[in-house]
Amino acid sequence: MPSGTVALAFSGGLDTTVCVPLLKEEYGYDDVIGVTVDVGQPDAEFAAARETAAALGVEHHVVDATAEFAALCFDAVRANATYQGYPLGTALARPIIADAILSVAEAEGCAALAHGCTGKGNDQLRFEAVWRASDHEVCAPVRELGLTREWEIEYAAERDLPVEAGNEGEWSIDTNLWSRSVEGGHLEEPDYQPPADIYAWTDAPSGETGTVDITFEAGVPVAVDGTAMEPVALIEALNDRAGSYGVGRTDMLEDRMLGLKVRENYEHPAATTLLAAHKALEGLVLTKAERDFTAAVSQQWAQKAYEGVVEHPLMDALNGYLDETQSAVSGTVTIAFEGGRARPIARESEHAVYSADAASFNTETVAGIEQADATGVAKYHGFQSRLANAAFDGNK
Ligand code: ARG
Repeated sequence: MPSGTVALAFSGGLDTTVCVPLLKEEYGYDDVIGVTVDVGQPDAEFAAARETAAALGVEHHVVDATAEFAALCFDAVRANATYQGYPLGTALARPIIADAILSVAEAEGCAALAHGCTGKGNDQLRFEAVWRASDHEVCAPVRELGLTREWEIEYAAERDLPVEAGNEGEWSIDTNLWSRSVEGGHLEEPDYQPPADIYAWTDAPSGETGTVDITFEAGVPVAVDGTAMEPVALIEALNDRAGSYGVGRTDMLEDRMLGLKVRENYEHPAATTLLAAHKALEGLVLTKAERDFTAAVSQQWAQKAYEGVVEHPLMDALNGYLDETQSAVSGTVTIAFEGGRARPIARESEHAVYSADAASFNTETVAGIEQADATGVAKYHGFQSRLANAAFDGNK
């Protein structure tokens, strides 16, 4: 039987609440410490976690990781990272949360780490990818004991655990600075149209329009409408602003790591706005070859981020590529909010790979090249295709 203290990723929801007595009774730990990590969830969630922990009699820690999380979100902007169209909010938060819990466990001399994730989702994998690099035991009671929601509700009632039956509402919601995810209940059915009340960050798109200027330095957002802002504040401000125009809703079928296809709904107004602006600025300052290669880098970066393995050596390599290319991605982009979209409508940078003279129809000679010089290029263009087609026709 193991002994000592176990640090539990604690939200105060049903899963993590039933984990507390189970970690003592079924796993044999002497004590449980609940750790709630702040990645920008609503204040009410901390109050609820604190109250539940107090009612359970467990020591409770709240760790502020908003700054680390915002920095990782901005790494994701630099990388243009989306997974199947979703800006990765839940995924990016998990390694940050896991790291913060590991630090508490180390400071408190805990023997083990525990989470309340099920065996079907991605989060168990993301937490454990971080934790299994340490010497701590890892416990996943919900998965390992095969718990179902019904069993948990009954167990909580029998033990008089502090869970209000309806306290988790109809949907399962995961909120952080970068996105709000809503799933479960009827929303799991791909053909079920979500009711308006699943949205909390975005108004329904209307005819109302607006614009915002986003300034980047080396691929990282630094100012909104010319006012320099810290990452956390910048994200919060844009969530409010873009959300009021109905920007940043995603309704999708997501392929989870274990192969399950799951219907997901997300809100991410700031992420949508920043990603659109960043890509628009890249269009101005990167060469075509860099833009093409960056698309492949983005895909790999997003895949590893979705898996929660941000410490993967491939990530270091991809970030090295981004350090190099993003050094040119400084400038300002104007985004129009219209019809629920964030559409780039202007961009400027001192690193623009753009020559008004070269692109103009009114200039005859640029850098010693004149229009007629393209004739030779035009003659060769498609040459191999013509050769191949002639050979094929000839052999028929
Ligand atoms: N499926 C998403 C992901 O793995 C998010 C799930 C969030 N959880 C929730 N209970 N809404 O990134």
